[in-house]
Amino acid sequence: MTAITIKTAEEIELMVRANQIVAGALNSIQQSIKPGLSTWKLDKIAETYALDNGSTPAFKGYRGYPASLCVSLNEQVVHGIPSKKVVVRDGDIVSIDFGVNYRGYYGDAALSIALGDVSQSRRRLLQVTRDALTCGIDQVRPGKRISDVSLAVQRHVEKNNFHVVKQFVGHGIGTHLHEAPEVPNYHKRGSSPRLLPGMVIAIEPMVNVGTSNVKILGDGWTVITADKSDSAHFEHSVAVTEGDPLVLSADIIAKKII
Ligand code: MF3
Ligand code: CO
Repeated sequence: MTAITIKTAEEIELMVRANQIVAGALNSIQQSIKPGLSTWKLDKIAETYALDNGSTPAFKGYRGYPASLCVSLNEQVVHGIPSKKVVVRDGDIVSIDFGVNYRGYYGDAALSIALGDVSQSRRRLLQVTRDALTCGIDQVRPGKRISDVSLAVQRHVEKNNFHVVKQFVGHGIGTHLHEAPEVPNYHKRGSSPRLLPGMVIAIEPMVNVGTSNVKILGDGWTVITADKSDSAHFEHSVAVTEGDPLVLSADIIAKKII
């Protein structure tokens, strides 16, 4: 991990652009996804979108990761590898995570899609996870600490009787995909960094129905819940400003800027 960096206004502008490409790619997948499509096809949609918009996919080759997109289904938490042999089905939770590099700056965001006729309990999991991210984002203000973000996420999840993953965390982001500080989704003992204007963090709650515990499959990447219960994942890259949090990967900005 690198040291925590403070980005200039110009750097934040480039990170808005990077993250808006990510948001656009995630949007494009949401618009074309339907039961029967392979997860490989989703990967191609994201990759094409990134390249068409002057950026390069950030995950491909990162620590040897073999694809552009992560696609994690149902009990898969994160880092599912796209495959021509895996198709998405009606009723699935489809978690998609994408990152790009645009003129040296990274964007990173994720969301879970309820595909077709999804059970009420799965819908609730997605809603709670999305809301947990919002609770975390609300804490992104000067003077607050990373631990305030972590605690807000954890409280919302546990109030709803779900479990946060502890083995994987959010992160700073900028000229590297993963920068300091770590952004855990649970309260960690000890002091944590104070937020200052110009810091940018990726907040990414991973929420499981039955247990916090996860396992990694034999492919070395796919993270699943230890009890095979469902999991959801939402992520935004967020800049600290003098005032309200600036959600760089927000869909709303996408409509305003692009
Ligand atoms: N959004 C994920 C993260 O922040 C993506 C990393 S997948 C990898 O860690 F393939 F790039 F490792
Ligand atoms: Co991330």
